[in-house]
Amino acid sequence: MLSTLVVYGVARSSNRILWISTRIVCCRRSERGVVSEFVRELPKAELHLHIEGTLEPAMLVSLSGRNHVPLRYSSVAEIEAALQFTNLQSFLDVYYEAAGTLLTRQDFFDLTFAYLQRAAADGVVHAEIFFDPQTHTERGVPFDAVIGGISDALAAGHAEFGMSSGLIMCFLRHLPAGRAMDTLEAAMPFRDQLLGVGLDSSEVGHPPGAFAGVFAAARAEGLRLVSHAGEEGPPEYVWEALDVLGAERIDHGNRALEDAALVTRLVAEQVPLTVCPFSNVKLAVVDRLEDHPLRRMIDLGLNVSINSDDPSYFGGYIGDNYVGTQVALRFSDDEMAGIARNSLRASFVPDHEKQALVANLDEFLSHRP
Ligand code: HPA
Ligand code: ZN
Repeated sequence: MLSTLVVYGVARSSNRILWISTRIVCCRRSERGVVSEFVRELPKAELHLHIEGTLEPAMLVSLSGRNHVPLRYSSVAEIEAALQFTNLQSFLDVYYEAAGTLLTRQDFFDLTFAYLQRAAADGVVHAEIFFDPQTHTERGVPFDAVIGGISDALAAGHAEFGMSSGLIMCFLRHLPAGRAMDTLEAAMPFRDQLLGVGLDSSEVGHPPGAFAGVFAAARAEGLRLVSHAGEEGPPEYVWEALDVLGAERIDHGNRALEDAALVTRLVAEQVPLTVCPFSNVKLAVVDRLEDHPLRRMIDLGLNVSINSDDPSYFGGYIGDNYVGTQVALRFSDDEMAGIARNSLRASFVPDHEKQALVANLDEFLSHRP
């Protein structure tokens, strides 16, 4: 059954996105009522997005040909068939192989700009984007090709879509901490292009504490600190990310729910958790979207946002995650707006810009029928 609602067009003023009510469209109905595209259009921040995880099968095939990097797959269909994962490592094996086709500054520009186009269409007004330099520099790709191509695209995205952004350099935790320190040093000529540092890759068996030194050095440089923890790893890794690394946000954090004292701490300090529902289903962290603990997290008072993680691998971008999660967990539009507000507040933009982003969300909401 179809019904109508007002959807919001986008206009730009001084490179800041403003939302205006412009047209009438149709939307779907579910058994519980209207499932609007309202949540897709909500002005939001994306805070947990690996740029290498936006490499779409079609671009992968094209890069493989353009750069003469052979793959195990010879077609988009074969790649899509390979996107069945049983855990984080089974995904990372495919993700690192695919990332091996990225060689030039132009490749990193194309990858990033394609993501920004999709994110802008999903209401993203601010994106804090992870990249994994070691995945590329360990193959001989120059650091400046990686960061240069990504940064050029972020500048183009700001000009084209009015989207603000920041870059978070992630260290690969399956490699020794010394290599992370080498990477931080290699990044210093590009310090002004970095917002922060993070920790990703294979979690179990690689506790955050080993990276205390490189996180302390990053903090001394004024970089913001985040860390993946509690995706597959135990609650102790979340404690360590907070207490040993000084992480200001926890990426995922699902397994924190197993530790009541940790939940109390996260609630008391309102530590943002960047939750990724589609990712959690694809990597078997939860069985079905309907079983995702996001509602429980909100009921406990945790500060959560919804993000896409590696959208070309996990079945959808941030708008799909918002729509799918709303349907599966029966969130109201107001609850979804609260999640979008959390995402803006949990961003690392300066306070005055944050107030403007939140005011823009409120303006969008005021046009709701
Ligand atoms: N977890 C850890 N490392 C990653 C992920 C993830 O979901 N995606 C890319 N690197
Ligand atoms: Zn992630």
